[in-house]
Amino acid sequence: MGSKFVLRATFFLFLVALFIKAKAADIDIKKFGAKADGKTDDSQAINSAWKEACTSATPSTVVIAKGNYMVGPVKFQGPCKAPVSLRVEGTLQAPAEPEKLKSQDGWVIFQNIDALSVSGGGTFDGQGSIAWSKNDCAKTGKCNSLPISLRLTGLTNAHIQDITSTNSKLFHMNILNCKNVTLQHVTINAPGESLNTDGIHIGRSTNINITGAEIQTGDDCVSIGDGSQQINIEKVTCGPGHGISIGSLGRYHDEQPVRGVTVRNCTIKNTSNGVRVKTWPASPNGVASDLHFEDIIMENVTTSPVLIDQEYCPNGQCQAKMPSRVKISNVSFKNIRGTSADPVAVKLACSKGIPCQNVEISDINLTCNGKNGTCTSVCSNVNPTVTGKVIPPACSAKTS
Ligand SMILES: *[C@@H]1O[C@H](CO)[C@@H](O)[C@H](O)[C@H]1NC(C)=O
Ligand SMILES: *[C@@H]1O[C@H](CO)[C@@H](O)[C@H](O)[C@H]1NC(C)=O
Ligand SMILES: *[C@@H]1O[C@H](CO)[C@@H](O)[C@H](O)[C@H]1NC(C)=O
Ligand SMILES: *[C@@H]1O[C@H](CO)[C@@H](O)[C@H](O)[C@H]1NC(C)=O
Ligand SMILES: *[C@@H]1O[C@H](CO)[C@@H](O)[C@H](O)[C@H]1NC(C)=O
Ligand SMILES: *[C@@H]1O[C@H](CO)[C@@H](O)[C@H](O)[C@H]1NC(C)=O
Ligand SMILES: *[C@@H]1O[C@H](CO)[C@@H](O)[C@H](O)[C@H]1NC(C)=O
Ligand SMILES: *[C@@H]1O[C@H](CO)[C@@H](O)[C@H](O)[C@H]1NC(C)=O
Repeated sequence: MGSKFVLRATFFLFLVALFIKAKAADIDIKKFGAKADGKTDDSQAINSAWKEACTSATPSTVVIAKGNYMVGPVKFQGPCKAPVSLRVEGTLQAPAEPEKLKSQDGWVIFQNIDALSVSGGGTFDGQGSIAWSKNDCAKTGKCNSLPISLRLTGLTNAHIQDITSTNSKLFHMNILNCKNVTLQHVTINAPGESLNTDGIHIGRSTNINITGAEIQTGDDCVSIGDGSQQINIEKVTCGPGHGISIGSLGRYHDEQPVRGVTVRNCTIKNTSNGVRVKTWPASPNGVASDLHFEDIIMENVTTSPVLIDQEYCPNGQCQAKMPSRVKISNVSFKNIRGTSADPVAVKLACSKGIPCQNVEISDINLTCNGKNGTCTSVCSNVNPTVTGKVIPPACSAKTS
């Protein structure tokens, strides 16, 4: 009897200890003086809380509770001694004036951290409207003068879920030099007219999984740059925006291959583009292979919803006559259905220098708005394999 009581009491104390330990690991930024009044700069409080969490030998959680926090540039810098979580329940607001972030290429930066987790249902508000009116990137061709809202650089084994990025000044998120990162149920929004507000850009990263994102923005919903490998994009809803793109590739020297991209079970609605692979003419040699697009619904997509464009040359900033030397191979477009506002629903414009190889088209059903519902396909420098029922009928091979 007595020993049973002792056992129970010990177990109870053990539970209490566990609970206290879990509690102790929560680090609220208010403890470091965050005001959450939407006016006072709370960056210092976040930095201090992060420092405590990152130097802790046991796992800990930085908590940003409900409220509005005005913050300048913030850097969550690793490596940390143990896994750190960030629970954002409130809203972080960037200064509206781009000058206040001038020295930085990002607003909120996560760098060199292993096993980071971010969650909490909160919002990162880039307050971009002033910045959009100052964006002269189309004129100057220099598009990096505004800060990206969320930079994920050098992360391994990160899990980001249930957060929102709104009204970024430039890209919402840039994932660079990362390995094994999952973004689950992320919400992204900015007006369709906001310039260069790409949703999620991925570059030089391996094993990135984006699942369940809702993206409404003024540029590509997801764009995949050079050096991306094993990228999985699924259950993403995109629109307004410019669709889901691989590229552009071939603009710069020393670009690394893109290999292994799957875009599956996505809806692309009321966008300027659907799914596309774009490379610049007159490019250095490059590689894009194993690119798979399947189970995709298109609604009212303005320009060819299925597109390979190896003559990508926005604002005439290229030598359009020279072929792209990015080799595209092992590509499939499967089970893609819906509507196109462009009578050319499927356009495969491959390079006359290096034709596309092993392209498969299967089970396509795209109808065109306007006209009488019929669409066409055009191809150059590619001889696609066609299986299943393909509407509009696939182009016949043509070499220019
Ligand atoms: C990837 O990261 C997750 C944490 O987000 C971790 O649970 C998983 O084990 C990692 N996978 C590999 C292969 O390292
Ligand atoms: C489609 O997008 C345009 C431009 O972003 C917008 O004006 C229009 O209301 C949208 N239509 C629908 C049905 O969402
Ligand atoms: C992507 O992440 C989701 C949610 O964690 C998971 O269900 C899915 O299996 C992952 N996919 C890949 C290819 O890792
Ligand atoms: C995505 O998958 C779910 C579950 O299988 C299905 O209900 C939905 O229609 C799919 N959406 C698309 C765009 O394929
Ligand atoms: C189709 O998209 C165009 C341009 O984005 C927009 O003006 C129009 O309202 C959309 N139509 C439908 C039916 O959504
Ligand atoms: C394309 O796929 C085939 C098998 O389906 C494979 O042998 C080949 O290596 C792949 N090519 C590239 C460039 O990945
Ligand atoms: C193609 O889509 C149209 C419009 O949604 C539909 O009426 C038609 O039955 C579909 N055709 C096939 C073969 O699935
Ligand atoms: C309407 O569809 C028919 C085939 O069904 C085609 O021959 C004709 O050119 C189309 N007209 C227009 C204006 O697209």
